[in-house]
Amino acid sequence: MGSGEWHVEKRSTLRNDSFVKESGSAPETGCLSIVVLGASGDLAKKKTFPALFNLYRQGFLNPDEVHIFGYARTKLSDEELRDRIRGYLVDQKNADALSKFLQLIKYVSGPYDSEEGFQRLDRAISEHEISKRSSEGSSRRLFYLALPPSVYPSVCKMIKTCCMNKSDLGGWTRIVVEKPFGKDLDSAEQLSSQIGELFDESQIYRIDHYLGKELVQNMLVLRFANRFFLPLWNRDNIENVQIVFREDFGTEGRGGYFDEYGIIRDIIQNHLLQASVLCLVAMEKPISLKPEHIRDEKVKVLQSVVPITDEEVVLGQYEGYRDDPTVPDDSNTPTFATTILRIHNERWEGVPFILKAGKALNSRKAEIRIQFKDVPGDIFRCQKQGRNEFVIRLQPSEAMYMKLTVKQPGLEMQTVQSELDLSYGQRYQGVSIPEAYERLILDTIKGDQQHFVRRDELKVAWEIFTPLLHRIDKGEVKSIPYKPGSRGPKEADQLLEKAGYLQT
Ligand code: NDP
Ligand code: BG6
Repeated sequence: MGSGEWHVEKRSTLRNDSFVKESGSAPETGCLSIVVLGASGDLAKKKTFPALFNLYRQGFLNPDEVHIFGYARTKLSDEELRDRIRGYLVDQKNADALSKFLQLIKYVSGPYDSEEGFQRLDRAISEHEISKRSSEGSSRRLFYLALPPSVYPSVCKMIKTCCMNKSDLGGWTRIVVEKPFGKDLDSAEQLSSQIGELFDESQIYRIDHYLGKELVQNMLVLRFANRFFLPLWNRDNIENVQIVFREDFGTEGRGGYFDEYGIIRDIIQNHLLQASVLCLVAMEKPISLKPEHIRDEKVKVLQSVVPITDEEVVLGQYEGYRDDPTVPDDSNTPTFATTILRIHNERWEGVPFILKAGKALNSRKAEIRIQFKDVPGDIFRCQKQGRNEFVIRLQPSEAMYMKLTVKQPGLEMQTVQSELDLSYGQRYQGVSIPEAYERLILDTIKGDQQHFVRRDELKVAWEIFTPLLHRIDKGEVKSIPYKPGSRGPKEADQLLEKAGYLQT
């Protein structure tokens, strides 16, 4: 296809250029091969290919440069892979874009642990590079491992042996790995060492898709570009911080996977803590927007988290979870957890960071709630006051709102709780918010590692949770049953109250 036929709007960057320069990534060109390993699987069809399609539709993947390869053991033709994923690609109405995108995809079948399949993959990539007349040095190869972590080491070894880009003159080979990255500190470190022997840290992109969410990405701007918040963001003013993830559905066919991991490994250790939400709320100001400077600050704050005590943990398991035939009848795996983290530093000493996540609850929501201390010497105390609370809703319906007390309109001097409300749907009508995976894949192509997890971040995140996880695995901390569709165990609300959270 020539560039003249390329009908989608051509755009050069998602970010403004000054930010891109600051964050250290350089625009690159040349032949780009994106390889989705595990292309027959769930993540690939639901997230990876749709994100690639969206990037293509918006003009971020130039068909003159890009080819997409699926690789897995399942025997499929190119057309069978395309049929599998077609239904997950939005904008079906744009049949032209859809069919051109699908034509960019080729499928290679082979095992994950033998050179033969990867040599065929390499040949397919090279043919594409030659057909695009790419000079050897400018070939860019992105390998996305949409695979169970058990095969990461052998797949990385095969890529290193058979599929690296063929020249030092430019271009690159990058590896994207999915969570869960390990099951505890030792296994994560072992995995890091195995992959680290093959690839430099600058080639490894550990994805945590929460880092790609719009309002997570907004946290730095919010905290450090607004004078409002600077003097308030500390133990003198903040009573507690809650970071909440709720889903109103259960493990839904993923019981086997989930039972091995549980809610802390599936959600809390990564999406809510590791490099993501807690770090961005609690970290100090980085010296610049360079990815390494930001990640340095995240590591520092994680290193200040003190060990979790069992008194500050409530685990739950929804009734019916064990009906899944892949879940053992005596499973203690938590599908719900509330845990309090304490940060031992000058800014946060004494402020509980309450992390809460659960499946099969009464709603689907992810939000950060920052609750402020009561007003000292409050002259309105005879009237019931709510507390000031700043809420950042990551999903659904992105929003930020500030709960505050105002005078009830009218003749009486009555107070009432109200909100300063920045709901994105209303304020930014017509602006479409990119999917997390879209942004992150684009970052990998640009070589921007800011929103990916560095090895030392991962290590310290596992250090925080591993002792608790081992106690849970041994059955020393029990999961309390809760009704599907409820708020989770009542003990979790009691813990919140004990930590000083006041329902406003
Ligand atoms: P799948 O179970 O669908 O596996 C993906 C592919 O890997 C399968 O199609 C299969 O391909 C191959 N595979 C499966 N089991 C094995 C095995 N034991 N040994 C070797 N190959 C195997 O996984 P998902 O797509 O759900 O997830 C992929 C990765 O992404 C995982 O690390 C997961 O934790 C992570 N992830 C998934 C999310 C999701 O929503 N699904 C969300 C966030 C992260 P074949 O047999 O054809 O080779
Ligand atoms: C995944 C978890 O990482 O995130 C799933 O493995 C969870 O259990 C999912 O459902 C939630 O992602 P999102 O973006 O829908 O909140």
